[in-house]
Amino acid sequence: MDELKKAAAAEALTLVESGMRLGLGTGSTAKIFVDLLAERMKREGLKLIAVPTSEATRLQAESLGIPLTTLDETPELDLAIDGADELDAQLNLIKGGGAAHLREKIVELAAKRFVVIADETKEVAVLGKFPLPLEVVPFGLEATRQHLTRVIEKVGCAGELRFRMKADGTLVKTDGGNLILDAHLGSIPDPARLADALDHVTGLVEHGLFIGMAERAILATHQGVRVIKRA
Ligand code: 5RP
Repeated sequence: MDELKKAAAAEALTLVESGMRLGLGTGSTAKIFVDLLAERMKREGLKLIAVPTSEATRLQAESLGIPLTTLDETPELDLAIDGADELDAQLNLIKGGGAAHLREKIVELAAKRFVVIADETKEVAVLGKFPLPLEVVPFGLEATRQHLTRVIEKVGCAGELRFRMKADGTLVKTDGGNLILDAHLGSIPDPARLADALDHVTGLVEHGLFIGMAERAILATHQGVRVIKRA
């Protein structure tokens, strides 16, 4: 699988040009992209600045000598590259498997182009087999969980909302100090409708549905790399 992730990352690297302001994603596929980017920068003397979407990516990029900036200093980016947990034919995405979807969404919305890199296992006919990550503030947790359950049911989805735990039994905390509820919905027939409904829930900081954001997905398959462009 790593070979497929590497193939997708290598293809995305061809979109990078000297002088660009980049958004760097989070997760195992984005990590490979950041490694390849650093190698190319050294080899070709590319001049770039980048905004990382998580503390993990910030540490990786710093250790590789990639110059970093923030969205405060650089509020507009040219290109953001990131992985996804699921994607459909319309390029609706589920993200947040690495608990980084809040910063990922902020960075990717600030980019003129957002390109997804993934192996073929991430492509699905209908989103929702992967539990939908919901980043919630620690205050009022049970009330927020019940509110979310009602909203999700109202748009025709259903399933358990479980707090994401670490192996040691403690709750996963995001870079922003919030918690993650994973919504085990099985299928999301209308992702845009669910995203819109979730956008109105107080206490939910951000959900992992990325609708109408990705310009293209670079999918690595055993038959080669396939590009899906958003219509
Ligand atoms: C992190 C994400 C990642 O992009 C997503 O989880 C995919 O990760 P990987 O490339 O390791 O499969 O959304 O919050």
